[in-house]
Amino acid sequence: MSKNFLIGLLVLAVSLIAGDLAFAKITGSGHDFSSQAWELNQEICFPCHIPHNAMANTGQDRLPLWNHALTTATFITYSSDTLVAEDVGQPSSSSKVCLSCHDGTVALNAFGGSTGSSTFAVGPLKVGTDLSHNHPVSFTYTATLVNKDGGLNDPSTSVSALGGQTIDSGMLIKGKVECSSCHDVHAAKGNAQTDSRKLLVVSMVQSELCLTCHKK
Ligand code: HEC
Ligand code: HEC
Ligand code: HEC
Ligand code: HEC
Repeated sequence: MSKNFLIGLLVLAVSLIAGDLAFAKITGSGHDFSSQAWELNQEICFPCHIPHNAMANTGQDRLPLWNHALTTATFITYSSDTLVAEDVGQPSSSSKVCLSCHDGTVALNAFGGSTGSSTFAVGPLKVGTDLSHNHPVSFTYTATLVNKDGGLNDPSTSVSALGGQTIDSGMLIKGKVECSSCHDVHAAKGNAQTDSRKLLVVSMVQSELCLTCHKK
């Protein structure tokens, strides 16, 4: 192999990697706030993450180097007389990180120690603090629930939509259904593979997302 050929390969590899970075998943998605007037540093990750002096995550389910102010709201949780799950409680931190922008009580630009200004989630982006009319979150989904309910897939078995992963490994957070069970916070816009319309982890065509867990 000639030296020039090897250098050519190297240049090709580097440009492929660079191309990939320029079109990384989150870039240009609904969660890329780098061009918002309120993101003064024009960073993508900073409104949510910080590499140092992040929020302490001891005793929390999931606060990955978190930089955004957390909601302190008390939520009305989902209930119904057919619901079998008995532990639908206040959102765990994994869902609270989403609600910290989407409940509409915390400013979008309340990060990095700033309390933010008057930019809040409004309209359909505002899930609000009344979760009684939203799919339940922050409850345990195990084989015990499957046996009691009769209409759910076993979370320890893989479902084709998850490409070999099980519901438990691919969707649940510490065995619980959370916002991130259905949404990928870093998803690319217009990625046909996962139907990133609404940043979903599985396509909604033929309600595939719902049928991943529900046997209906
Ligand atoms: C809108 C908020 C938001 C933005 C912006 C964001 N993240 Fe995240 N990130 C999250 C949340 C929420 C989680 C927890 C993920 C989960 O629950 O599945 C997370 C998890 C992570 C994790 C750990 C889990 C994993 O997926 O590997 C890494 C690493 C990460 N983010 C890196 C980044 C980087 C790098 C950027 C910028 C290019 C970024 N994130 C931008 C919200 C965000
Ligand atoms: C820093 C604030 C912030 C955090 C944290 C955050 N979001 Fe968002 N999210 C937004 C904003 C603002 C938009 C609207 C962006 C736009 O105008 O396209 C949005 C858009 C969305 C959309 C709609 C996307 C679309 O294309 O219609 C979904 C779904 C969503 N977020 C879910 C989540 C989930 C789930 C989490 C947690 C894992 C989360 N968000 C965390 C601020 C946030
Ligand atoms: C069981 C699955 C599931 C869970 C859990 C879930 N979502 Fe969603 N979410 C969806 C689907 C499906 C859509 C798209 C609905 C549509 O397009 O009509 C959606 C849409 C959204 C939107 C966009 C609304 C719009 O019209 O632009 C936001 C924001 C959002 N979800 C936030 C959240 C937050 C925050 C949580 C956790 C409290 C959460 N979701 C939990 C399935 C889920
Ligand atoms: C990650 C797995 C998962 C996904 C994805 C999912 N669900 Fe669920 N859903 C559950 C579990 C588990 C319950 C709790 C069932 C129970 O305890 O009765 C539930 C509860 C519900 C309930 C309330 C049942 C009641 O008795 O009040 C409805 C309705 C529902 N889901 C519909 C949907 C729809 C529609 C979708 C698609 C947009 C969806 N789910 C996606 C796991 C999921």
